[in-house]
Amino acid sequence: MNVTLDLEIETACPPDAEALMHKVAAACARTEGVALPLEVHILLTDNEVIREINREYRQIDRATDVLSFPAISYAAGKTAGQSEKRISREKDVDTGCCFLGDVIISIPRAQEQAQEYGHSLTRELGYLTAHAMFHLMGYDHMEEDEKRRMRAMEEKALASVGINRVTDQELLEKAREMMQFSYAPYSKFTVGAALLAADGTVYTGCNIENSSYGLTICGERTALFKAVSEGKHDFVAIAIAGNNAMPWPCGACRQTLYEFAPDLRVLVTWNGQVEETTLSQLLPNGFGPKGQAINFLG
Ligand code: THU
Repeated sequence: MNVTLDLEIETACPPDAEALMHKVAAACARTEGVALPLEVHILLTDNEVIREINREYRQIDRATDVLSFPAISYAAGKTAGQSEKRISREKDVDTGCCFLGDVIISIPRAQEQAQEYGHSLTRELGYLTAHAMFHLMGYDHMEEDEKRRMRAMEEKALASVGINRVTDQELLEKAREMMQFSYAPYSKFTVGAALLAADGTVYTGCNIENSSYGLTICGERTALFKAVSEGKHDFVAIAIAGNNAMPWPCGACRQTLYEFAPDLRVLVTWNGQVEETTLSQLLPNGFGPKGQAINFLG
């Protein structure tokens, strides 16, 4: 991973928090398209300390959940992804890493928010890390459109490491529900699919057979085509449910999904069992628009 976290912990926090924060920080850099080795300093502290820092540096006298202080000032309208040269100037000769800035997180505030949302403190720290990372990479949320852009990047980065607003359980349940609409009078193999777009929308589908057998369409492609026909091209996970066996996606579905989401997480379920993999594992060295000798999309 190309992000080093210099973590300073001043107050009790869950033992698995560091690994998750590290994973999230690396995912944010990857999502932004920054390949340079980066370093971020994160202080996990209490309300008093964050309040003091907030007062001193921002003249705001209250404890907030997270504060970020970018070390880099990006050119107007630019974020880290378009600022390789600028970032590389921050390279430390000893570590070889480019310093992005400082982050301060209040553990008690994170704990309160975790309770409000009904998830773990570790997960909340993942969200706060993503938010802070994008601030350090030049994003802000003062205007509505920049806020939307920042949220979309956070969602995308978090989803790439399996942290979705829609949980895997919910996605699997949607896929199971979709089996009721399957039209499979010939094979009797019912398939339901639920495809999670990077913005958090779920597109569902089922298999639809035809008396001219070859015209059958699979559940996965029904979901994908619904999504693409509504303008979505970015996906993070798909759940597929079957009634008769583990519904591993067929070759045609793997290829079709690969066009849009080579890193898609794939969850399959049958008879209460769940298995998880990724599309790149199901289709190694796949043929797609990116990474070919000829880049079809330019
Ligand atoms: N099927 C799917 O819906 N998805 C797959 O990836 C494999 C196969 C459906 C198509 C057909 O209706 C039935 O399963 C039996 O092939």
